Amino acid sequence: MYLKGNGKYNGRSESFKRHCARRWWIYLLIFAAVNVSLILGIIYGIIPTIAQGAVTRAAVRADGIAITNPSNDHITISMNSTVFARVPVAARFANQTFEMYLPEDKNKTTFMTLGVGELQAQNKMAINVTGADTKILNATVYQEFSKQVLSRSNFTLGIRSQPTLQVGALHYPVNFEKTIRLQGFNGLKGITITNPVVLNGSSVMADGTNLLTDAVIPNPSSFTMQIGDLTTDISIESLQLGFSVIKNLTLYPGNNPVKIYNHINPGLMALPTFSTILDQPNINITLKMNSTVFNGEHVTWLETPLRETSPFYAIMNPTSAPAVGSASAGALSAP
Ligand SMILES: *[C@@H]1O[C@H](CO)[C@@H](O)[C@H](O)[C@H]1NC(C)=O
Ligand SMILES: *[C@@H]1O[C@H](CO)[C@@H](O)[C@H](O)[C@H]1NC(C)=O
Ligand SMILES: *[C@@H]1O[C@H](CO)[C@@H](O)[C@H](O)[C@H]1NC(C)=O
Ligand SMILES: *[C@@H]1O[C@H](CO)[C@@H](O)[C@H](O)[C@H]1NC(C)=O
Ligand SMILES: *[C@@H]1O[C@H](CO)[C@@H](O)[C@H](O)[C@H]1NC(C)=O
Ligand SMILES: *[C@@H]1O[C@H](CO)[C@@H](O)[C@H](O)[C@H]1NC(C)=O
Ligand SMILES: *[C@@H]1O[C@H](CO)[C@@H](O)[C@H](O)[C@H]1NC(C)=O
Ligand SMILES: *[C@@H]1O[C@H](CO)[C@@H](O)[C@H](O)[C@H]1NC(C)=O
Ligand SMILES: *[C@@H]1O[C@H](CO)[C@@H](O)[C@H](O)[C@H]1NC(C)=O
Ligand SMILES: *[C@@H]1O[C@H](CO)[C@@H](O)[C@H](O)[C@H]1NC(C)=O
Repeated sequence: MYLKGNGKYNGRSESFKRHCARRWWIYLLIFAAVNVSLILGIIYGIIPTIAQGAVTRAAVRADGIAITNPSNDHITISMNSTVFARVPVAARFANQTFEMYLPEDKNKTTFMTLGVGELQAQNKMAINVTGADTKILNATVYQEFSKQVLSRSNFTLGIRSQPTLQVGALHYPVNFEKTIRLQGFNGLKGITITNPVVLNGSSVMADGTNLLTDAVIPNPSSFTMQIGDLTTDISIESLQLGFSVIKNLTLYPGNNPVKIYNHINPGLMALPTFSTILDQPNINITLKMNSTVFNGEHVTWLETPLRETSPFYAIMNPTSAPAVGSASAGALSAP
């Protein structure tokens, strides 16, 4: 490059130019410089575009998400997911963190993050995270997320990150943002209750349990949710029966067999007709979720949505087979 304006410098440059023109290698240098700029153009112009394009077209599937150890500020998350992408070159994603948000939240506030570590870029990449202790970053949005998991048949979750794509020694920042559709618990539809066993007289349990039942709670999603001790008010139409406790409940994908500890109002229990009621087929029991306690703590983001989306219904002594909840994967994301 030659500097203009200053005659002294110009003179020097001109003589330098004449000096070089006589040398054949100056043409080689220019040729090399053109090639370098071409290569630089590819490195800093084309490859980043291709890399970002591959990331933009990628699809994400959540194969399973487990939320355990619930508390009001922390949870433990495990997630198995698969990313489908067409990666044209051998590349790695540097250590990255997924940020989760709800797409319908106008502010797209991150309510939790999940470190996914480093990844070798492949057409099909498994991203499995196990037992990550995770802080709830926005309790309002997290509770809305929990409500959707518990009540909806399906809903969407936003995932974003700004990973660095490493191609050899070159590093490219890319923007990853996906909306994935997930199945929810669908309001726990299809609960069945069987085998009522009356505990009377001296067989009433110390905590007051006077009726034991078995139940099956179907979970049609691929979510695992640890709930803890779940207390529910129970009734048959307008007849209040009392309350039920399921201890240390964790809902896994599929059908969940549980033991229910019922506290039936003693006056009702004493009625001679009560055991006849318990023998009827297909009794529609109304469940009003009241509280969830884990590690001695009321977990608001479980308790509030369960109360808000109550009542739930259960069929006692069903004459047809219980609904088979099948674990199924979250759908592919729309690019
Ligand atoms: C992830 O996959 C492993 C292996 O198949 C399985 O044991 C684990 O339960 C899965 N985790 C979740 C959260 O689905
Ligand atoms: C990741 O999870 C999938 C299930 O979604 C499982 O098939 C695979 O074996 C897991 N891989 C590892 C390394 O745990
Ligand atoms: C977005 O965030 C701002 C400030 O935190 C808040 O005032 C506003 O209500 C939020 N909007 C929505 C839709 O949540
Ligand atoms: C939580 O997220 C909502 C919705 O984006 C926002 O309105 C609110 O200000 C956030 N709260 C806090 C404490 O950041
Ligand atoms: C990824 O980065 C986070 C935050 O910087 C760090 O805590 C974590 O140890 C890193 N993980 C790996 C596998 O390097
Ligand atoms: C998703 O949920 C909506 C209601 O929230 C429902 O209308 C739709 O049928 C559901 N789609 C699938 C595939 O389950
Ligand atoms: C307890 O219930 C059983 C059957 O429900 C009945 O046969 C028995 O007499 C009851 N015992 C008392 C002490 O009420
Ligand atoms: C509670 O349930 C979890 C998950 O099923 C289990 O690992 C744990 O041992 C249970 N705790 C008690 C006290 O039964
Ligand atoms: C149980 O009763 C509720 C309220 O009347 C009704 O919506 C629901 O469909 C009933 N369930 C069954 C299986 O009949
Ligand atoms: C329902 O929840 C309220 C508030 O947490 C509590 O005071 C009450 O004892 C609960 N009822 C039952 C039957 O557990």
